[in-house]
Amino acid sequence: MTSLRIQVNGQSVDTDVAPTTLLIDLLRGPLGLTGTHQGCDTAQCGACTVLIDGQAVKSCSLLALQAQGRAVTTVEGLARGDTLHPLQEAFIACHGLQCGFCTPGMMMSACGLLRQVPQPSDAQIADALEGNLCRCTGYVNIVAAVQQAAQAMAATGEKA
Ligand code: FES
Ligand code: FES
Repeated sequence: MTSLRIQVNGQSVDTDVAPTTLLIDLLRGPLGLTGTHQGCDTAQCGACTVLIDGQAVKSCSLLALQAQGRAVTTVEGLARGDTLHPLQEAFIACHGLQCGFCTPGMMMSACGLLRQVPQPSDAQIADALEGNLCRCTGYVNIVAAVQQAAQAMAATGEKA
């Protein structure tokens, strides 16, 4: 086991992990953050996407130790207390989900995009969500949700 210190959703976490522990297994297991979903485990579905230092990363494709000293944001870190993040509001308003399995990963990829490109085009959104698969809805409402969130944040000056 090796000691690991990371920030998770703004809180410092000190723990011990095996060298082979994947970040997703640390998040969903010892840290109990099951909002990050485990789909393919082979970096194809995007359900496990989190932000590391603000960039969207598939947490099944990373060892926990590779996050040493870095800031990890999971879907649980999006809301501010009882106030949903604009992306969460927009996914609800635009019906950007059905079963919801892909939704945490979609929102984290979208969040990573909006941090870099606050007013993206539909093509940029499609590009950013290319690695996130949805088996239920198709992608039209998801893209609309990201656009709605971008507009809501532009109106209030809120940063992703
Ligand atoms: S579980 Fe990580 S990409 Fe599918
Ligand atoms: S809403 Fe079911 S997989 Fe996307």
